[in-house]
Amino acid sequence: MTTYSIAVLPGDGIGPEVTAEACRVLTAAGERHGARFELQEHLIGAAAVEATGTPLPDETRAAVQAADAVFLGAVGHPSLDNAPSHQRPETGLLALRSLLRVYANLRPITLHPALADRSPLRAERLRGVDILIVRELTGGLYYGQPRSNDGHVAVNTLRYSVPEIERVAVTAFEAARGRRKRLLSVDKANVLETSQLWRETVNRIAKRYPDVTVEHIYVDYAAMRLITDPASIDVLLTENMFGDILSDEAAVLAGSLGLLPSASLGDGTGLYEPIHGSAPTIAGQDIANPIGAIASAAMLARYSLGLPEIADAIDRAIGLALANGARTRDIARPADRTLGTREMGERIAALAQQGGRKSPAGVRAPSV
Ligand code: IPM
Ligand code: MN
Repeated sequence: MTTYSIAVLPGDGIGPEVTAEACRVLTAAGERHGARFELQEHLIGAAAVEATGTPLPDETRAAVQAADAVFLGAVGHPSLDNAPSHQRPETGLLALRSLLRVYANLRPITLHPALADRSPLRAERLRGVDILIVRELTGGLYYGQPRSNDGHVAVNTLRYSVPEIERVAVTAFEAARGRRKRLLSVDKANVLETSQLWRETVNRIAKRYPDVTVEHIYVDYAAMRLITDPASIDVLLTENMFGDILSDEAAVLAGSLGLLPSASLGDGTGLYEPIHGSAPTIAGQDIANPIGAIASAAMLARYSLGLPEIADAIDRAIGLALANGARTRDIARPADRTLGTREMGERIAALAQQGGRKSPAGVRAPSV
């Protein structure tokens, strides 16, 4: 039996609760398919600030670099909202992404048929929706220097270099090739120089992918198109901040932010996290939806460990649990009986351990 070492960073708020369920499901699927996971927990975020004074302690830095893959729950705590930036939980996450050099963040928007009526959009608009957002993750406004705030004037810098754009564009083109072969590149090239360079660079890379159709649109129109014609979008490639905003918007199509997973890939160790935040207002109540975290564990098995049968078993188990009517509060109708975070995790783990009997439509991993 092969053993894989996973650095597990539960973080803050609902992070530990959803992480526990992701680990439960991964372990269960592994038992059936002959893989063992060594799940070592480490500190990040507010939990790390409290224990060590810094949001990404040295011990965690060393551990993530030595692991086969990294799983993260969520970071952020209201008590640190006004803390200096080196003590903010989010700074720990940005430092982690940068340390692992995970420049491409994949956010698949999978619609589960059983949840069709949980989206505010009409069913006919949702038909055929299957989107992969590829968000640049280690550049742009989040990282650009200089940055400052002296109380009168604050500065952030939007900077992109050609190699930074090229490598994430290649990830997106490769993904498109394995899917419907359409790439939608989102920018603000009518205003921003970085976006003009983005467009030129994407067009240059496009020459290597003559089989992929490329379309460029501005981010304001992209926000509208995600709602008016989401089925027309296959792979959506964009820079860091636009991708952050558009992926929360796209989550509405699926029915809940709590459902969506992500994989952050680069040249080294991969990082996997649900796209939702730490949701402090519902933390510790056993009501958070663990599916985004569990689906992130499936992506981890697929992309970092090369275990597609385990990833498929987890994805199928999620689809089956939903088809069987399992609902956390965020995806329940008023009359539905709701499950807690743990109960939902246990249901999915049991199904994953059985291998998930059949593959329900709509449960498909993105190809990259
Ligand atoms: C996300 C989150 C993070 C981001 C925050 C917590 C720093 O919103 O992963 O989408 O903005 O990237
Ligand atoms: Mn976000």
